[in-house]
Amino acid sequence: MLDKYGRLDKVIKVYSRQPGQLIRILQQAQEIFGYISPEVQAYLAARLNLPLAEIAGVVSFYSLFNSEPKGKYTISICLGTACYVKGSQEIFRAFKNELHLDDDDTTVDGLFTLRSTRCMGACGLAPVVAVNDDIYGQVKAVDVAAIISRYRKKELADDYERQRTYQDPAAAPPPH
Ligand code: FES
Repeated sequence: MLDKYGRLDKVIKVYSRQPGQLIRILQQAQEIFGYISPEVQAYLAARLNLPLAEIAGVVSFYSLFNSEPKGKYTISICLGTACYVKGSQEIFRAFKNELHLDDDDTTVDGLFTLRSTRCMGACGLAPVVAVNDDIYGQVKAVDVAAIISRYRKKELADDYERQRTYQDPAAAPPPH
């Protein structure tokens, strides 16, 4: 089986002959590695014979690319106009305080990444928060702790289930 760099080499082979395919290659690189680290950027620069600054510039310009590992759950808070006027800044602040994170940071346990985003196309539900694919509408700052806690509990329950199934049938029950 090909390692990740082997898979990336295949992608480069397919796309690099066609002009203007850098974004395609970066998308595939992110799919393979989960994020486009400085090492991967340097590798691509060498293989594609492009300046590293050009690759790094594209990665930082497009919000769909991550140069750092993301948490298991990405919490996206919409700061688009409709959400903004309904107080999404306050919700964003509440998430920052609750998780002790800045924009685009990830908690040390790798569970949550916090991101501000533009309109998610659900303005009727403003202010909108997404946690991976789960959408929360008309969110208030007081809801923030409960949203975070929901995913923390889910993690604990999943951990318990994994232990119970594969290792320790006598594991303690999940917390409620
Ligand atoms: S402005 Fe937030 S979903 Fe449109």
